Amino acid sequence: MSAELTAADAPAKRLSDYRPYPFTLETVRLDFTLDPDATEVRARLTFSPRQEAAALELDGEDLELVSVAVDGRALTPDDYELTKTGLTIPANVLPSQPFTLETVTRIAPSKNTALEGLYMSNGMYCTQCEAEGFRKITYYPDRPDVMARFHVTITGDQPVLLANGDLVESREGYAEWVDPWPKPAYLFALVAGDLRAHSGTFTTMSGRKVATNIWVRPGDEDRCDFALQALHRSMRWDEEAYGREYDLDIFNIVAVDDFNMGAMENKGLNIFNSKWVLASPETATDADYERIEGIIAHEYFHNWTGNRITCRDWFQLCLKEGLTVYRDQQFTGDMRGHATKRIDDVLSLRGRQFREDRGPLSHPPRPDHYREINNFYTATVYEKGAEIVGMLHRLLGAEGYRAALDLYFERHDGQACTIEDWLKVFEDSSGRDLSQFKRWYTDAGTPTLRVRDSFKDGTYTLEFEQETRPTPGQSEKLPRHIPIEVGLLSENGDEVLPSTVLEMTEAKQSFTFDGLATRPVPSILRDFSAPVRLERDVDTSELAFLLTHDRDPFNRWEAGRALAQKVLIGRVLGQETDASFSDAIGALLRDETADPAFRALCLNLPSEDSIAQALYDQGETPDPAAIYAAREGLARDLASAHKTLLAEIFTSTEATGPYSSDPEQAGPRALRLAVLRLLNRIDGGARAGALFASAENMTESLGALAALVQTGQDAAAMAEFRERWQGDRLVMDKWFLVQLANCPPETALERAGALTGDPLFTWKTPNRFRALMAGLSGNHAGFHRADGASYRFYADWLLKLDPVNPQVAARMSTAFETWTRYDEGRREKMRSELERIAAQPGLSRDLSEMTQRLLG
Ligand code: BES
Ligand code: ZN
Repeated sequence: MSAELTAADAPAKRLSDYRPYPFTLETVRLDFTLDPDATEVRARLTFSPRQEAAALELDGEDLELVSVAVDGRALTPDDYELTKTGLTIPANVLPSQPFTLETVTRIAPSKNTALEGLYMSNGMYCTQCEAEGFRKITYYPDRPDVMARFHVTITGDQPVLLANGDLVESREGYAEWVDPWPKPAYLFALVAGDLRAHSGTFTTMSGRKVATNIWVRPGDEDRCDFALQALHRSMRWDEEAYGREYDLDIFNIVAVDDFNMGAMENKGLNIFNSKWVLASPETATDADYERIEGIIAHEYFHNWTGNRITCRDWFQLCLKEGLTVYRDQQFTGDMRGHATKRIDDVLSLRGRQFREDRGPLSHPPRPDHYREINNFYTATVYEKGAEIVGMLHRLLGAEGYRAALDLYFERHDGQACTIEDWLKVFEDSSGRDLSQFKRWYTDAGTPTLRVRDSFKDGTYTLEFEQETRPTPGQSEKLPRHIPIEVGLLSENGDEVLPSTVLEMTEAKQSFTFDGLATRPVPSILRDFSAPVRLERDVDTSELAFLLTHDRDPFNRWEAGRALAQKVLIGRVLGQETDASFSDAIGALLRDETADPAFRALCLNLPSEDSIAQALYDQGETPDPAAIYAAREGLARDLASAHKTLLAEIFTSTEATGPYSSDPEQAGPRALRLAVLRLLNRIDGGARAGALFASAENMTESLGALAALVQTGQDAAAMAEFRERWQGDRLVMDKWFLVQLANCPPETALERAGALTGDPLFTWKTPNRFRALMAGLSGNHAGFHRADGASYRFYADWLLKLDPVNPQVAARMSTAFETWTRYDEGRREKMRSELERIAAQPGLSRDLSEMTQRLLG
């Protein structure tokens, strides 16, 4: 008997080991008889061999095998090999012609707390199969390159029984669904429960009518219309922007409360975390509305980029995720404005992806090995993956990009593809060589781009140097192909060189611009044209000039950002700082022509985490308490310096009329709340208190609460909010999060401890667990207390969650991904918590892989 491998020693899977599956799966018939403790799954799979004498290997986990038969002949245990991870039928037991395998298995959805496979949430059955959850439903070749047509029957006493594709038969207690499109098992979905639909119809560009439904628990019907309309907008947009039409007669979306991720693109039956579907002005913020629209779009867009064209293997995950994120970013830009969307996306890229790329978890957008694929749904795969698509768009131009995408759909529809296939369509449609560009997919790390400039005899020179630090497992870094969008401004602010894309391909490269009368001011990396860290010695007056004059809205904001960062770092390091940032903010506050949402973004000071990162990048050791103090001090000083102007804006931005989440209202509201956060530091909480009392929508209510808790004036409001919303799970998640993320750092841990004792802390629900834990880890100085007590508390909870829901525990462990940034004391304390987790007997493969990678 061989010793069972422990999770920690599970061998890595390697991209280079890819082999095609030796069978074609012709048809799939699944019959479900639902029962919370013993759901029976009868699977009939027709295979035809593609190779001689191949064994049939099927994945399967946590299944009770009732019977196996081949072409109607029952097999005995001697005929096959059954392990904890699958079922193998040797070649000598199999016909050499096409054959049908029939298995019956039993599973217990009510005991499935990992929320992967078939599980239950509030009495409703639902599934989550990506990436490798289908193997917890039945024995199957659970890999994305095995695509088949599914025919599914469901027997159960729930009023609503849903699966992928079109409904072909239904009566009480029974439904039959046929999906005409071949798909990999990870896109399978089943839902059964007492659900209500909010329904609509969408007419496609070729005139086909599609029934659209949002399915929710009784009582939630009146919070669905925004999501339904967002779905219709997404469907129209994909027709107009990419020429892609929907391909079934029905599109269902189901909201579930217990869900590990945000949402899932199952063919014709998307399943959503209810947080990203349900919206009403009283319960959802402006930011929630925007995010709901973006996620609905994202999952819908997967129908073409993910479902019709899927991934050959999970190493290619960014093929579908990076592209689909890019598409949802374009969509949101079109719906709500490109400038603010780009700024939001770059904030998230830097806050999540750059952070990841700078630490022990750094990996390429297309990794070449992993142990647990769930750990690779990362900011790098998603957000850097989207940036890479954006760079291709910029290099080829709008028409070139569209031609490449048309070729992609034409050439690969119905296939399971690789990054090589993807790049080849760009090469073939444009005639360009993208072999160097490919490094963006295969190399880890954020390049640093250093710039120097000079001016002589009417010629201006920009000299760039790129460098990428070594990352885990990759020490040698070759230069990347970087699109650098630049513009040049004259000293009176006119554009002397409109936006131009420079293509850098060497480690060091210069670009010259002739015929200039005077030395220009450069605007470099406009629209954040590449995911790099730009380093340049710029004085504050030049930044202030760009903040006022740049034509590129992203770089205007970026200049303000750089100014803020300079002041903050100066304050942390106890250096003299000048008034240029405060003056620039004053100018911006007076500029009524500037978009309010843009002004709000400029007023938001860099996060403490980003200040810590900037200090680390400069070779300093960040001190969390000093960072907190510097940021608070700057906020107070800005508030005092501009109090009259801020007070005027606070009054003039008050909304009138009924609530709408459109940018026309959301923009001024964001500005008003940004102003409130500053004023609250000097007005004793008067405005925030009044706003909290009078607010009629969640944006203002939560904005006021966030301001109050920042200054420790929240006790009464917090209690009132809890009293009012205790029955609403989505709003209560906000309540847990807002107080921990915003409270003074010295109170954060104590507060978190008290909140874990609140009867509403239902920690097995991912949304609630995340709200509390992300609140604490998001409180930078509170999490990084010098005594390490928050680290211990957080690690204890990860260990408690791991046996229940390893996927969420593993994702949450990234709170420790910055541990190498800090001083010796904190480093040691974080390291010892990670070692304590790693040493835990029976640790999941998910969390085990994460702690080992974190420890390096
Ligand atoms: N395919 C994913 C959902 C998923 C991720 C399932 C990981 C299983 C494991 C889906 O398309 C997705 O990307 N969802 C995102 C939201 C999106 C807007 C970026 C999510 O769930 O966070
Ligand atoms: Zn996705």
